[in-house]
Amino acid sequence: MTQTDQDRVMIFDTTLRDGEQSPGATMTHDEKLEIAGLLDDMGVDIIEAGFPIASEGDFAAVTEIAKNAQNATICGLSRANFKDIDRCWQAVKHAKSPRIHTFIGTSPLHRAIPNLTQDEMAERIHDCVTHARNLCDNVQWSSMDATRTEWDFLKRTVDIAIKAGATTINIPDTVGYTEPAESADLIKRLIAEVENADTVIFSTHCHNDLGMATANSLAAVNGGARQIECTINGLGERAGNTALEEVVMALRVRHDIMPFDTRIDTTKIMNISRRVATVSGFPVQFNKAIVGKNAFAHESGIHQDGMLKNRETFEVMRPEDVGLSGTSLPLGKHSGRAALRDKLEKLGFEMGDNELKDIFVRFKALADRKKEVFDEDLIALIRDEETNT
Ligand code: KIV
Ligand code: ZN
Repeated sequence: MTQTDQDRVMIFDTTLRDGEQSPGATMTHDEKLEIAGLLDDMGVDIIEAGFPIASEGDFAAVTEIAKNAQNATICGLSRANFKDIDRCWQAVKHAKSPRIHTFIGTSPLHRAIPNLTQDEMAERIHDCVTHARNLCDNVQWSSMDATRTEWDFLKRTVDIAIKAGATTINIPDTVGYTEPAESADLIKRLIAEVENADTVIFSTHCHNDLGMATANSLAAVNGGARQIECTINGLGERAGNTALEEVVMALRVRHDIMPFDTRIDTTKIMNISRRVATVSGFPVQFNKAIVGKNAFAHESGIHQDGMLKNRETFEVMRPEDVGLSGTSLPLGKHSGRAALRDKLEKLGFEMGDNELKDIFVRFKALADRKKEVFDEDLIALIRDEETNT
């Protein structure tokens, strides 16, 4: 890796694979193509477009996405067997920059499913990564459930994958079990102890079962990972994956202590978030970081007053940087006079202090009855006031 690479974190988006595996989130062929186009356009480095062996539909979608991608590397997932890997290659090979991603569960619980001994699994990894590498120059290996795999065996699987030609080593926290200090240490220790660690990129893939996916991904970067796997809106199995918008904005906002760059055009975040919510049928919760309806909204009087004086008082990033037109100051029962005056002025009503005082009393009475007071409500209040005076 060059020095420049050391400062760069690759964004690997798996909305169309892990995200789509979220029960009920299935997307149509055309929707997948549309989302892939938006991901490519916003500067995602690697798009995991699907699991080609899973269905004819997935194969067709990955093939089409591979043919259309302009900048991103197109990756397909395959279990650790030759049939999956061959099918994956048939789909991704059309891309300007294709990648085969192959994996097997390496923890004791996962090894028990195919009932393989450590030696048998080690041999399988060697054979599959070698086979994938004979097809494609860009091969990603994942030791699934890495964070619950015994250290010695995890190290062994990574050593074998590197020797067999893997170019990216992904360390998944498949069930969202790790925590930030452990996540950083695991990557750091692997980089320190596996042979030829400097010839590959280490990657983190975190799930959000305990709500720590973003923190664990950033910690992994601090430990030396240079690829983050993530999804738009954090879509994904169970509690989801690391949210792309969260890690990207965290790296941007806290560049002072995490000096790593991504290629993401952050102004495209809101648009793709809304499209993914629509096509997946998974609405974004109101208080979701970065893309929630309330992420840049302030209702209480103290906050609104602060925001009107200096937006940095209650916002750590600019809404424009994620593609919004600005902060919103919805009026409700917690709002104060400053925000009411500001809103009335924006609606074209200039008023003196006494007039504002009267309107404010009536506004509070209305706000007690209504969750949010809209522009039309305010206009009606003013008209009422004018009629009564
Ligand atoms: O969560 C996981 O371990 C995965 C692998 C297939 C990378 O999604
Ligand atoms: Zn996953």
